[in-house]
Amino acid sequence: MTAGAEQATLHDPDAAPLARLDRAAIEAIVAGGRRLLVQGGMGIHASDGLSGKVARHRGARLVGVGTVSAVVKSAEHFRAEIRRARAEAPGGFVGVNLMAAINKAEFETCTRIAIEEKVSFIVQGAGISREIIKWCRAGGVPFAGIVSSGRLAAMYEKWGADFVVAEGAEAGGHIGDIGHPLPTLVDEVLAATRLPVVAAGGVDAADVARYLAAGAAGVQMASRFLACSDGDAHPAFKEMHLGKTADDITLITSCVKGMKARAVRNDFTEALARGEAFPPRSKAWFYGKEGYHGRKKACVECLGEDLCLCRASNFKESFCITDALLAAAVKGDVKNGLFYTGQSITRIPETDVTALPTAQQILDDLEARLAADAAPARAVAG
Ligand SMILES: Cc1cc2nc3c(=O)[nH]c(=O)nc-3n(C[C@H](O)[C@H](O)[C@H](O)COP(=O)(O)O)c2cc1C
Repeated sequence: MTAGAEQATLHDPDAAPLARLDRAAIEAIVAGGRRLLVQGGMGIHASDGLSGKVARHRGARLVGVGTVSAVVKSAEHFRAEIRRARAEAPGGFVGVNLMAAINKAEFETCTRIAIEEKVSFIVQGAGISREIIKWCRAGGVPFAGIVSSGRLAAMYEKWGADFVVAEGAEAGGHIGDIGHPLPTLVDEVLAATRLPVVAAGGVDAADVARYLAAGAAGVQMASRFLACSDGDAHPAFKEMHLGKTADDITLITSCVKGMKARAVRNDFTEALARGEAFPPRSKAWFYGKEGYHGRKKACVECLGEDLCLCRASNFKESFCITDALLAAAVKGDVKNGLFYTGQSITRIPETDVTALPTAQQILDDLEARLAADAAPARAVAG
C-alpha cells in the first residue's frame, strides 16, 4: 500500500465541504435524539481509507464521524486522505487526529493543512499543545481533546474545546492512564465538564447503549474498524484481529515517552518483553532509496525531541516505532510488526478474513442493536 498511499490521488478540491463538528452541532444532534459514532484515528496508515466510509453514515440513531490520522504522512498524502474522505462523505463530519508528540515541524504542517482543508474538527492526543487550540480558533476549525481524567476534561473546557474524547484503559495503542477503565472514566468526565463527551476504549457493539445511556454524546470505536473489508490496512493486519483471546493481547512499553500501549502478542512484542532493542533501519526498506520524503537518515525523527526513548538512548534501547508500525499496517509482517489493538479485539465475532463486514455493515449492525435495545439516553447538558 505504501506506494499506493504515497501516490494517493488528490480528489476534487471543490467537492462539497465538510460540516463543522462544533459543540453546537453536537448538542443539536443529541437534542434530535441521535448520537455520534466516531471512528478513532489510527496512526501510521492503520485507519487509512476508513474515514469517509464511516462519515457518510446517517442513521436513525447514529451519525457517523470519520477521523484521518496525520501520523507519518507526507503533506501530499495527508491532504489526499482528507480529500478522499470528503469525496466519499460530502458534507459529512471528517476530523483529523494530531498527536502533540510528533515532531514539531510535522505537527505544524499537518495543522495548517487540516485548517486549509476545513476539516470538521482537530482532535489532539498523546500530549497537549495549547498552541493548536489558538490555531484552530483563528482558522475556524472546532477542536477536541482526548482525555484520561476529569481534570483534563475541565481544563480543555476552560481552554475552549468543543468536545472531549474520554479514552479509557481498554483502548488500543498508547494508553493515557492504565489505571482508569472506561466505565468509571466516563462518569468522572461527565461530572467534570459540560462539554459533549465521546466514550472511547474497548467499546463493542454490546456496550454502545450503556455509554449513551450514561450521558455520552457518542462513542468512538477503532479496533472494530480494523477488521472490516474496506479499510486499507494490510490483510495480515486484519487477520491479526480475528479469533483472539485475552492471552493474545499484551501491554508493551512504547518508545513514546515510555507510555504503555496495547498490542497483539507476537514475536516482536515477546522480544520487547525480553528487553531487546530495535534501532531504526534505513527507510530504504520501505520508501526506496530516496528515503523518507527525502530524509535519508534511518531515524526520521517522527517524534518530538526527548519524547522518543529510542533516540534519547542513542538507539541502544527501545524500538523504532515508525519501522514497527509500518511493518504491521502496510507490510503485514506478522513477526516484526507491532499490531496495536484495543481490548475489544477478543469480541470481534468474525474468524474469516475473506468474509469481513464493510464499515457500513458494522454501522448497520450498531443501528440494529440500538433499535432493539432502544435505551433512553439522557441529553447532554448544553
Ligand atoms: C492500530 C491503532 C493505532 C492507533 N493510533 C492512534 C493515534 O495515532 N492517535 C490517537 O490519538 N489514537 C490512536 N489509537 C487509539 C484509537 O484512536 C482509539 O481511541 C482507541 O483505540 C479506541 O479503543 P478501541 O480500539 O478499543 O475501539 C490507535 C488505536 C489503534 C488500535
